[in-house]
Amino acid sequence: MPVVEATPDQIAKAGQLIRDGALVAFPTETVYGLGADATNGEAVARIFAAKGRPSFNPLIVHVPDLAGAERLAHLTPHGRKLAAAFWPGPLTLVMQRRTDAPIADLATAGLPTLAVRVPSHPVAQALLAASGRPVAAPSANRSGHVSPTLAQHVKEDLGNRVDLILDAGAAALGLESTVIDVSGETAVLLRPGGIPAEAIEAVLGTTLSAPVNNPEAPTAPGMLASHYAPTARLRLNATAALDNEALLAFGPAAPSRRMVINLSPAGDLTEAAAHLFAALRAFDAAGYDAVAVMPVPGEGLGRAINDRLRRAAAPRA
Ligand code: TXA
Ligand code: MG
Repeated sequence: MPVVEATPDQIAKAGQLIRDGALVAFPTETVYGLGADATNGEAVARIFAAKGRPSFNPLIVHVPDLAGAERLAHLTPHGRKLAAAFWPGPLTLVMQRRTDAPIADLATAGLPTLAVRVPSHPVAQALLAASGRPVAAPSANRSGHVSPTLAQHVKEDLGNRVDLILDAGAAALGLESTVIDVSGETAVLLRPGGIPAEAIEAVLGTTLSAPVNNPEAPTAPGMLASHYAPTARLRLNATAALDNEALLAFGPAAPSRRMVINLSPAGDLTEAAAHLFAALRAFDAAGYDAVAVMPVPGEGLGRAINDRLRRAAAPRA
């Protein structure tokens, strides 16, 4: 399907497509999203069909600002603090939905809660303005596959299952948003992501709680054990590649033999996050079926990077 440069004309056309119930892939500061009108159940159903995604997974609804979020859901005091500190940006808040919120039940999988995000990417903001609708958007990849950080990745994964792909180059962050449940008394980290947990804890002045993890009924399906998976098998905490393996490296000590992709030769976690998903796709494209992965430190964005690597390395369903 058409990959077009995200010019004002194309964004206006994309806004009309959203209002008509079609699917538009668009850039955000985290990864590319597969967007549909969140108030239109049939449009939301097309997202699940295009991704081949199990329909019990609730979606993130994107709105232009805090006022847009408040029309849909109830902000708790800690939710409001986080919104003030991190919106617009790579933070998703799970809140109690308003009973009169015009969101299709399919977008929330029938849950009484709603996940809302205010993206900072100018094209995402322009699309929200052009459509005038809350936009439900999971990452624009086939279910279980690596999230797209380029328009080309969307095309490879979804092809003609999407009506328009807006291209604005590489997603700056390269990791999905951090998902925090603020619907109850304490803030719960459902998915590590683009905003480090430490930064969130600093704003709250308390530590985040861990979710009650029931693998049969995950609170956030991003928590399913095997997720974000490339085709190649990953071996974590490697210091070198074996004969048959490519190497996903981090830091200056990386050996340079076979196919090596260094996430950040300087050992910079922000740079590593931006390169992660494209690197996993590149090993598949080069035909490797095994990849050794060097250790990445677990603080800051490293927590989300390690979370994605563990899921990519987990036994496949
Ligand atoms: O960065 C991102 O968040 C990207 C861009 C496109 O905005 N979107 C994204 O969406 O990653 P998706 O659908 O791939 O991930 C949504 C996450 C899942 O882990 C889902 O389970 C969780 O949010 N989620 C959504 N609604 C929820 C709810 N009501 N309660 C708990 N978790 C929820
Ligand atoms: Mg996803």
